Amino acid sequence: MVTVALSPSAPVIDRRIYGQFAEHLGRGIYEGLWVGADSDIANKNGIRRDVIAALRDIKVPVVRWPGGCFADEYHWMKGIGAPDERQAMVNTHWGGVVEPNEFGTHEYFELLDQLDAEAYICGNVGSGAVAEMADWVEYMTLDAGSPMAELRRRHGREQPWRVPFFGVGNENWGCGGNMLPLHYANLYRQFQTYVRNYGDNRITKVAGGANAGDYEWTEVLMARAAGHMDGLSLHYYTLPTGDFGVKGAALGFGEAEWYATIDHARHMDTLLTRHGEVMDKHDPGRRVGLYVDEWGTWYDAAEGTNPGFLWQQNTMRDAMVAALHFHIFHKHAARVRMANIAQMVNVLQAMLLTDGPRMIKTPTYFAFQLYTDHHDAQLLELGGAEELPAHTDLTASRAGDGSDDVTVSAVNYDLERTAVVEVTLPGRVRELVRADILAADRFDAHNTFEAPDAVGISAFEGADVAGDRLTLTLPPHSIVTVRSRLA
Ligand code: AHR
Repeated sequence: MVTVALSPSAPVIDRRIYGQFAEHLGRGIYEGLWVGADSDIANKNGIRRDVIAALRDIKVPVVRWPGGCFADEYHWMKGIGAPDERQAMVNTHWGGVVEPNEFGTHEYFELLDQLDAEAYICGNVGSGAVAEMADWVEYMTLDAGSPMAELRRRHGREQPWRVPFFGVGNENWGCGGNMLPLHYANLYRQFQTYVRNYGDNRITKVAGGANAGDYEWTEVLMARAAGHMDGLSLHYYTLPTGDFGVKGAALGFGEAEWYATIDHARHMDTLLTRHGEVMDKHDPGRRVGLYVDEWGTWYDAAEGTNPGFLWQQNTMRDAMVAALHFHIFHKHAARVRMANIAQMVNVLQAMLLTDGPRMIKTPTYFAFQLYTDHHDAQLLELGGAEELPAHTDLTASRAGDGSDDVTVSAVNYDLERTAVVEVTLPGRVRELVRADILAADRFDAHNTFEAPDAVGISAFEGADVAGDRLTLTLPPHSIVTVRSRLA
């Protein structure tokens, strides 16, 4: 029996834990989001309407852009102005294709407007200059009277935008400059000095963080630069094999690969614990947030696709990986303030896949949809979690919308056994306001353009209530969310 209890010290689950990442990579931006105003594909100001409608339903809180590795090669000035003023470049990291820079700063903020999401810009440290980064911040956030503000106005935008989050470089231990930690710590201190707050815009500055278990990186950054940052990032991808050389396939996997992938996903808990311990040493008050601004599954390139485009199918296994990450992020919510799945459309563990005018929702999309009730909700403490049946996991929160409803989400990642989970809630249940399940006959079930509705959310019939007791009967490889209104 698991007990779900209110605790005054439990943190709020920041909705930004459900953030997204959209890089100039493959068909993530072009086709996935941006089709241009003249396209036959229905769009508003160049951004496709079907994609926006779908993403609004999962309440995307924040979008990290423009990379990724692309960010440290991006020169923002090439992506502003009239279409014939945009300067193309070669996207050397991702397939060596020509990047037309049709989608730039203005188009990004148009996307955010349509999504009602916040900005999280990643600046160029690896191949950029301090002045270039400073100018970009000025262009975006200074109202008037400066060269950059006037340039923005000339390009049609009077009001400054809001930039609440700014990342100073990406993976600077790798594609972002191959730096050693102390070198980056120094550069971080220098670059961030010129990331200014203009008017009432207040920027949360995020330093480029470690790759997976590189605790030394976190140690050096915290020891040398913690006082200059508000957040430190962390990147960790889930691979079936754990080996970037031969990662494993997105489809056609067996039971062993299912469990191996789940084990690798659950490793995120260890990473957050250990990076958190290093951060606690230097920042016991937990002022600096941990920003897991890239996470998700990464498989071998699908046959017949450009390996530099990172396109992959998405099955119930991906949905399970996503749900387990949500539980882990909730558990570490006192330190983890944002997470951004890689990536939003057509790249890696995507929410949506497009094929020209067609669009499908992936199982991962539905996992995000199942967890929207946890956005900005108060985390509830679990007592007796060690008594949960094998291969199950659970998270619970009290709604942040003033209703006091309690939402429990649970997963059963066993491939054979149905699991029964009993939960004692902090009060008698008056009514079940939501009981939804994401499940499928097969553990590798997925949607295709030919069968777009093979996997989706349906009503969950396995929730029983007696007083303050909620009993969940979870089929194999299923994810459920039950929201209860207490008396
Ligand atoms: O998400 C794909 C790539 O993975 C990003 O560009 C990079 O930051 C990471 O290595």
